[in-house]
Formats: sequence, C-alpha cells, structure tokens
Amino acid sequence: MMEGSIPHRRNGHSFVHRPMCQFRLLSALGLFTFIVLNASQLHLSSYHYPLFSNKRAPVHAAAIISRCRQLSLETGPPSDFHTRSQSDRFVPGAKPVLVKNARIWTGGKNGTEILRGDILLDKGLIKSIGRLGIKQTETYGNRLVVVDAKGAWITPGIVDIHSHLAVGSSPELSGAIDDNSYNGIVQPWLRSLDGLNTHDDAYLLSVAGGVTTSLILPGSADAIGGQAFVIKLRETAERSPSSMLVEPPYQINQSYPNPNLPLRWRHIKHACGENPSGIYHGTRMDTIWAFREAYNRARLIKERQDEFCSAALAGKWDNLGEFPDDLKWEALVDVLRGRVKVNIHCYEAVDIDSMVRLSNEFKFSIAAFHHASEAYLIPDLLKKSYGKPPAVALFATSSRYKREAYRASEFAPRILARHGLTALMKSDHPFINSRYLLHEVQQAYYYGFPENLALASVTSNSAETMGLGHRIGYIKEGWDADLVLWDSHPLALGATPMQVFIDGVAQLESPYVIPKPANFQRLPKVPNFDKEAHEAVAYEGLPPLFPKKSPLDLITFINVKSVYTHLMGSVHQMFFAQDDGHLGVVITRNGSIVCSGSSEACQKTPGLDHENMFTIDLAGGAISPGLVSFGSPLGLQHINQESSTNDGKVYDPLIRPIPKLVGGDNSIIRAVDGLLFGSRDALLAYRAGVTTAITAPAHGGFYAGLGTSFSLGASHKLEDGSVIQAVTAVHVSIRHLSKPSVSTQIAALRRLLTGPQNGAAGQWFKKVTDGDIPLVVEAHSADIIATLISLKKEVEATTHTTIKLTVTGASEAHLLAKELSEAGIGVILNPSRPFPAVWEDRRINPGPPITRESSITSLMTHNVVVGIGCVHSWAARSLPFDIAWAAIEAGGRISKEEAFAIGSSNVEKLLGGEARAEIHDLVATRGGDLLDARAKVVAVISPRRQLVDLL
Ligand SMILES: *[C@@H]1O[C@H](CO)[C@@H](O)[C@H](O)[C@H]1NC(C)=O
Ligand SMILES: *[C@@H]1O[C@H](CO)[C@@H](O)[C@H](O)[C@H]1NC(C)=O
Ligand SMILES: *[C@@H]1O[C@H](CO)[C@@H](O)[C@H](O)[C@H]1NC(C)=O
Repeated sequence: MMEGSIPHRRNGHSFVHRPMCQFRLLSALGLFTFIVLNASQLHLSSYHYPLFSNKRAPVHAAAIISRCRQLSLETGPPSDFHTRSQSDRFVPGAKPVLVKNARIWTGGKNGTEILRGDILLDKGLIKSIGRLGIKQTETYGNRLVVVDAKGAWITPGIVDIHSHLAVGSSPELSGAIDDNSYNGIVQPWLRSLDGLNTHDDAYLLSVAGGVTTSLILPGSADAIGGQAFVIKLRETAERSPSSMLVEPPYQINQSYPNPNLPLRWRHIKHACGENPSGIYHGTRMDTIWAFREAYNRARLIKERQDEFCSAALAGKWDNLGEFPDDLKWEALVDVLRGRVKVNIHCYEAVDIDSMVRLSNEFKFSIAAFHHASEAYLIPDLLKKSYGKPPAVALFATSSRYKREAYRASEFAPRILARHGLTALMKSDHPFINSRYLLHEVQQAYYYGFPENLALASVTSNSAETMGLGHRIGYIKEGWDADLVLWDSHPLALGATPMQVFIDGVAQLESPYVIPKPANFQRLPKVPNFDKEAHEAVAYEGLPPLFPKKSPLDLITFINVKSVYTHLMGSVHQMFFAQDDGHLGVVITRNGSIVCSGSSEACQKTPGLDHENMFTIDLAGGAISPGLVSFGSPLGLQHINQESSTNDGKVYDPLIRPIPKLVGGDNSIIRAVDGLLFGSRDALLAYRAGVTTAITAPAHGGFYAGLGTSFSLGASHKLEDGSVIQAVTAVHVSIRHLSKPSVSTQIAALRRLLTGPQNGAAGQWFKKVTDGDIPLVVEAHSADIIATLISLKKEVEATTHTTIKLTVTGASEAHLLAKELSEAGIGVILNPSRPFPAVWEDRRINPGPPITRESSITSLMTHNVVVGIGCVHSWAARSLPFDIAWAAIEAGGRISKEEAFAIGSSNVEKLLGGEARAEIHDLVATRGGDLLDARAKVVAVISPRRQLVDLL
C-alpha cells in the first residue's frame, strides 16, 4: 500500500502551485488512499513537529507552517545587523585602509553633519570615524594602507536609484539589450538580474564618477516590467551577476537561511503613461486596467494564502490543500504584503493620480515616482498615496523630449523639498551617463535645491528609498565601506573623484588628480531663482520665457568685473578689474557697446545722454560672448517625440529616391526653411546665455543638407536679425548606424565632391570643393575619420583647392589628433563629455580621473580647432556648464578665452558662421561670468538685432 501511494504523492507534489487541481485529485483518489497517505505523512511530520498530533497534518506540514509564519515577518535588516563585524560583501584579503584628515559629509542630521577627521575601513565596513589614534590602528601593523586626504571632501558612495547599467549596455549591441521585454504589458515575474551584462563598459566610467551602488530597473515599455535588483559596481572574484547583488532577496534562489529573520527588500518596476500606451497600442485607460487586473489577481492569491495560513496555523488541516501560490504572481503578492519597493516611471498628474488611486485600492505603498515631471505641481496628491508619501526621482534639466515631460521644471527638487517631499536625482543610465549623476545634483543645487538635500538625494535619501539606508548612503560606523574622496566640494561644478572605495576596496588604479584652485573646496554660491521657481508653479510648468526688450536705447551696466568679446574670430578679454574696488562700467546703445572700462572714462564719452540711461547692476559680474549651440535639432522641434511639433526628417537618397517634385536626388534641403522659433528649449538656452544656434536639417541617415544659424531669442523668422546666416555649411553623417554600408556612404560623398555636380546639391558641393563653405561630417569612429582625412587629400589632389572639413560627434577623434591637425580639420565634440554609447564611440578618452587627457585637451595639444556640441535640444541650455567643465577638467590648461571660444567662435568657424564682430551677441551676467556657476544671466546685448533683451 505504501509503495502504491508513492506515485500519487509524487503527482500531488507537482500541484503545489495549483490548489484547485489538488482538490480534484484528492476526491478522485477516495478515502482509503487518503488515509494511507496521511499515515505515511504523520510519521514524517511528527518527526519534525511532535506538536501536531492531528492525524491529518500533511507530510510537509513543517514547511507549510514555516511558510505561513513567514507571512508575518518584517522586511528589512535584522535588529542585530549593526553588530556585524564583517560585511557579507567583504573581499577576502582586502587590506584595512585609514583615510586621514578628511572633511566628511556623513549624510547624518538631514545631510547637515560635516565631520573633520579620519575614517578606518576594514572587513568591508566603516570601522570608525573621528580622530583615530595609534591605539585604534596599531593592531593592523604594516597591513594598514594609509591615505592622506589632506582636508579633501569625502561623501558616501553615490547611490543611483534609477539605472539600466548592464541591462541597457554600452556600447549598445543588439546581442545585449535586456532592459525591456515586449512580451506583455504586465510581467511581474521578470527579473533584471537575468540580463545583467558583466562586461558593460560603463561600470568603470560610473565608478569614476563616484557611483558605487545602482538599482537596476527593467525598462519602461511595460506597465509592470519586472523585478529590479541592487548591485555594487565593482568587479567581483566570481565575475557573476549574482555576486554583484546587494542584499538580494532570498526569493532569487529560495534560500531562507534563517526562517525567523526578517526578509530582504525586493524591488519592482512599474510604468504608466506614454511608453506602455504606445508599445501596446493602447491608451492610459488600458494601462491602468492592466494594473488593476494584475493587482486584483495578486489580491485574490494573497487572500487565499491568508485564509489557508490561518487554518494551517490553527492546525485545521481538513481539506486544506496546498499553500496557494503562483510563481508568476508571487512578486505582486509580495507588493501587497509590503515587501517590495515599488518604483514607478510616471510623468503627469493624470498618471500619478491613477497610481495613487491604485495604491489605495490595493493598499500598497509606492517607494518612488520616477521622471514625474508634474510631481512638483501636485504635492497634495502625492501625500494621498497609500502609506508613506513616495519619493520623487528626477533629472535636473532633461525635459520636453516627449509630451509628458513638457512641463518638467528645473525647480522641481526645491519645490518638492519645500512641501516636505523627498526629491532624488537619478540617471536613468545610459540616458544620462551615471558617471555624471552628481552633475545632476550640482544643477539642481544651482537652481535652488538646498545643499544638504542635494547631496542626500544621491546618497542617504536614495539609499533609504531603496530600503538600504541601514548599510549604504551614509558614512557611519558599521556601514558598508563605500566612500568617494573628491577633488573639490562635491557641489562644485566638475567635482571628480580622487579615489572611490567599494566594500573597502579602492577602485581607481593610479587616478589622475586635477589641480584645482582653493576656492573649489568651498560650497559654491548660487544665484537666486525664487521668482522663477514661483512662476513655474503659477504657470503650471509653462512660465513665459520670452525676454523683455529694454525700454531705453542706452543701458549702463555697472559693477562689471570683466568683459570678453569677439574679435577677429576669437574671444578676447577687453576689461578685467583686478579688485572689487575698481569694478568697471559698460555702456550700450541699441545693442552695441559704446564704452567699457572705468566709470570715469565712460562718463566722458561724447554724445551720451546720461539722464536717459537704464542701469543694470552686475554685482561683480561680466559681459561675455553669447554661446553657440550645435548638434541637436534645436530650432527644428518643440517636442522631440511629437512629429506634429517638428520640422521632421529629410529624405535620404541612399535609402529611397527624393521625389522629383523636390528636385530628385540632386536636391538639397535647407534647415532655414524649417525653422521653428520660440521653442521652450530655445528660450531656456537663450536665458542661459546660449544666444545662437547652428542647426543642420534633421536626418536619420547619410544625407542631411544645409545648416543655418539663427537667434534663439527671436520670436519669428522675419524679425530683424533672427536668421543670422541662411546657409552655413553642407552637412552629412557617416555612421555605422546608418544604411547602407559605411563604404557606400563614403562612395556617395566622394561622388558628390568629385563627380558631376548637378542640380542644387551640385551647386553647394561645388562651393565645398571650391573651399567657400565647410563640409561638416558627423563621424564618430576613428576608422571613418581616417577615411575622411584620406578622402580630403584625394579630392584636393583632383580639385587643387583646399576643402574646409569639420568632423562632428568625433568620439574617437583624439586617436587621430596629429593627423587631423596636419590635415587642417577641426572637430566639434558631441557630446562634449564622451560616452561609449555604440561601437563606433567605444575608444573614448575618458579624462580624469581615469586619464590625464580628455578628448578636448588631446586635440587642443595638437592645435586642432575644437568646439563642443550637445545631442539633445533640452541640453542646449547647459553649454555654459559644459564649457566650464572642460576648462576645469583641463586643470588650468584651457584659458577662459579659449573656453569661451570652444562654445562660440570655434563652433561658428568650424560650421561656416561669419566672424564679423557685429554679428555676435554678448551676455551680461550678475555675480560672476558666464562660465562661473555662481552667475545668472540678466541681459543679452545684441548688436545684430540692435537691442538689449532683459531676462
Ligand atoms: C531638512 O533640511 C531641509 C532643507 O534644509 C529643511 O527644509 C527640513 O526642514 C529639514 N528636515 C528636518 C527633519 O530637519
Ligand atoms: C542564494 O543566494 C544567496 C544570496 O545571494 C547566497 O548567499 C546563497 O549562497 C545562495 N544559495 C544557494 C544555495 O545558491
Ligand atoms: C536706436 O534705436 C532707435 C529705435 O529703437 C532709433 O530711434 C535711434 O535712432 C537709434 N539710435 C542710434 C544711435 O542708432
């Protein structure tokens, strides 16, 4: 009999997750078999659980009881967590480290605690902090590695709450795109862990920006995209994804080492709004229904579990069946049990409202809303979420790339903070290279996010939001030994790690340390944006941005520290006050400088009606050249992903013929014909001192067309001076990403330059071969750039002219710095700080702390003319920061004039812009010059438009 019962039990076993089937099986087997079955079980179970004398207790009663008890376990660290003497991530053999004489931002006291002293790291933990005497360290003998911080700032390692590092790998290759599954709108059973690429090029780069821990979220294609996992970014001896995890939930391998200990936090990704709607051809209504259906399913399972367990724990085994569970839904059931940090990609009020209702309907709390472009407009709604109000994870200025991001504000972090809500900064790596997550923080701080919360937003507060505040995000005794030693105050622009410790292990091998002036060690001063922040809310995210024209023709700028202007195609310092007692004056009439220098000298300028002057106090500020943006579709779009707001893309004759009506394949499109003035990206750039853009027609392949330069402050094309130069240069792109082959694209370019030059395209390419206008080629790979250098020589040998060639993008140009210089080819680096996004970008020059040279310094050392660009229209406003960054990173090897040139005159020169001085706008800044993160733009002086715009 017993033998005979065994097969049945085996069958029964496979029904663990299907309680309904089990019930049917039992009735079919009949009473006799049932009793025999239980007799055998009684023997086994009574062995473990003598308590259960109930004859019907099933064989695996012990497992069931243990499982049911688990339902009431807490989530989080065990109460004795901080008595640990060694980290579970300790690297055997790692030496103890004493970091001496540091200025320590601990993350404690709401981010206001700053200690001076030493930090002792051992066994993967922070062992002690303070003035450590010989007593505390002598036991280590000569194993102790001593690092003298010399008063430098130390923060906890940066904790990025939103990253796709390793699932959206770099360089992006089709064989390793593992962030989104498109197999269903609701898939809580998927795990980002299953796609973690251990060979992503970004690990080291992000560590070089101070990032030590990242929450790796699935993408946002699905409403429920799957479970997320926390990793540390260092290499492990095992070289496996699993060994990178921080406190992984026991569910990953069903190991519950001690059934009485609390469970570990799990993480899940949700998304609402445009992504799931678009991908699943639905609407917001469909997406929210998908959520409700899924959560209802999880709720029913949870209720059955609770009923089951109250019976089991009461010993009522009669007809109880198996523990109701479902591998596909167990993660959502755990959300309902409060064991999962729910991270929701959700932008607008309408979406956040739905998710807040969902959280209350199903009673689960939300860890954070991500992107959440309208969160700052709806603080009361956020506070209505079930449980604790969610944190809000934001970008600093990345906005308007899609409709739901249109009302995002750079003032959101400070506004949320004022409402007592937690604002976090996040990378969404590789969307924003997480190496520069701290730069997001610096920008948020610039726009008014209090400094303590700014630093907390990527350390203590992001760690707490992830449920890991008990071990990362702070510098406290007993916490993980994850530290960053910075070369400046971490909120100073360009702050770069001098060393990064993860689990007590130094991550940077012979880091290059940038020499920086002493004032970089202080908290930077920032301008006042109270009025702008108020208006962001008052206008529901769309405050008016057009400048006001000055009411008077004559304007005096007083208390001017320095004046830089364009002269003969480069930037020169015209005035500099040695000390604040001798600040100068600049007088403009109808947008042209009539006098600059000491106020005594300007008083004597003839013909000025000093009674009828408008005075602007620059408080030690400056007049600087207006900057020139290039590289994005700025001026051709309002919202990147909304085709109805854009000029659109040109035909690529390598893909399909250009219609005869346009002129066939010999036609060439002019960007000037598609200009759209007054986009928010244009006006925000203008308000940041980027007064001009040069834009090529938007294109998806080889053929672009004729670039144009125009004013970013103008309201339409017919306004005086709004189009600066209708045609600037001929643009094409040669990329591995385009079709057909690179060699075919080169063949097309060769024919356009040397073949019969017919039609409109022929005319413009003739101007190129005559050397009258530049040919601007977007190319990233050094191999393509080398081919272009050869092609230039080849063409010049036939035409006996000199072609003006500019390479843009140019991630690998530094490998050919000498050859580019010899060929007289200039370079516009775009993006300005390199990233190995795709294969043709992978051989980057990462710059400090990994290498001394950046791409910019390598090229400049070889006398290549260099400019910088930006990829996205929303980033045009950041050009002053980008240039300043390049200069800071060069450690004094790039002068202020050269830095201005990199973002203005060089860009114009390389792209065919005219160099006449009267073309150039100037920018008046208060509190510093345009490249100084303390400064605020207050006016644009435009000789071309004969006016001064007040901002
Ligand atoms: C934390 O700091 C912020 C900004 O400085 C302040 O507004 C807030 O009241 C502080 N919170 C606590 C609990 O001290
Ligand atoms: C299960 O995972 C945990 C956490 O990563 C690990 O410590 C443990 O060794 C694993 N157990 C097995 C049996 O693989
Ligand atoms: C300045 O512009 C005004 C019109 O705004 C014009 O009347 C005046 O003549 C101009 N002044 C000079 C010196 O060009």
